[in-house]
Amino acid sequence: MKEFTMQMVCKIDFIPLARPDIREEDIALVNEVLRSGMLVQGTYVEKLENVFAQYHNVKHAVAVSNGTATLHLALKVLGIGAGDEVIVPAFSYVATANVVELVGAACVFVDVDETTFNIDVSQIEQAITARTKAIIPVHEFGLACDIEAVCALSKKHGIHVIEDAACALGARQNGKLVGSFGILGSFSLHPRKSITSGEGGILLTNDDAVATKLKQLRNHGIEMENGKMNFVEAGFNYRMTDFQAALAWSQFQRIDGIIKYKNELATVYFSALNNKNIVLPTVPPDRNHTWQTFHVLLKETLMQDELISKLKQQNIGTNYGAQCIPAQTYYYQKYGLNAFTLFPNSYKAYTQGLAIPIYERMTKDDIIYIAQTINQL
Ligand SMILES: Cc1ncc(COP(=O)(O)O)c(C=O)c1O
Repeated sequence: MKEFTMQMVCKIDFIPLARPDIREEDIALVNEVLRSGMLVQGTYVEKLENVFAQYHNVKHAVAVSNGTATLHLALKVLGIGAGDEVIVPAFSYVATANVVELVGAACVFVDVDETTFNIDVSQIEQAITARTKAIIPVHEFGLACDIEAVCALSKKHGIHVIEDAACALGARQNGKLVGSFGILGSFSLHPRKSITSGEGGILLTNDDAVATKLKQLRNHGIEMENGKMNFVEAGFNYRMTDFQAALAWSQFQRIDGIIKYKNELATVYFSALNNKNIVLPTVPPDRNHTWQTFHVLLKETLMQDELISKLKQQNIGTNYGAQCIPAQTYYYQKYGLNAFTLFPNSYKAYTQGLAIPIYERMTKDDIIYIAQTINQL
């Protein structure tokens, strides 16, 4: 990395925390769909579903309106509701837990590992009760959790695994892609993810009956009988538009290159960041990281809020990475859990974590500038 560390890069333009890479070919394809007049769930939704299913080597992909609707549908399709418990990591984007509340089930929180920010597998078994119906492991920030271990435990206890791979398209454990381990795998296509459709989500499953029901539920519970609409479920409108699907399909063609480039950017961070009050993320040897977020941990000497505003003055956009969910007002009022003592790693990641910019449009010089600025804090 000598070529970068030798020079001090002067930065004028603001570097946001995240920015989607929308190229001319993406825009051209979206325009093509707009001109066709077929805007809702058409050819490109099907094409997007096909490439997702093929890439992951699973039978079915179902595109929906966002990566929260995916999780909501996953719980619905498995019949999870009142009286059931669902295990979720205490540190994630709040959507992972909100969907459990939306179906009337109860969240059972498990702390995360301090070095990977993924669910601490050693704490899962003690959270399982006779009411546990599912676990939603999150592949946080684009790093696969120990999904093999999660699946082994779920098999032993007869509970469903719904993978929340919202941020982790392309992440693997021992070569196998996340989203293809559990009965259902859920992805988000929000602009902060590796590829985007604006808003959007994809569910993967190998189960034919689950796939059929997902397709019904995303479209008001519809079933076609001899060319006639019949409504066999009280479903939702969770459809994806065709121009959104065209955008994601176009970007999907570059997915391997995107992940490769983000790994190159992450390598520059690893070699250039040397502030001793900052702990860099860990990648276990059996996983690959897709770097949806580069998330560091601040030692107590550095204050999160202060750092965010100092870096903003230096034209660098940063933020905290995800929430300690039991500490959020709704969850604290409902469950009354002391997150600081019960989920110390989640609480720490929430209050001392910092997400710093990493995205396809950044140059390696941008990364050097950020690293040098952080080193001087
Ligand atoms: C872990 C996780 N789950 C679910 C979601 C929800 O995805 P969406 O914003 O597409 O609804 C997100 C969004 O960032 C997320 O990070």
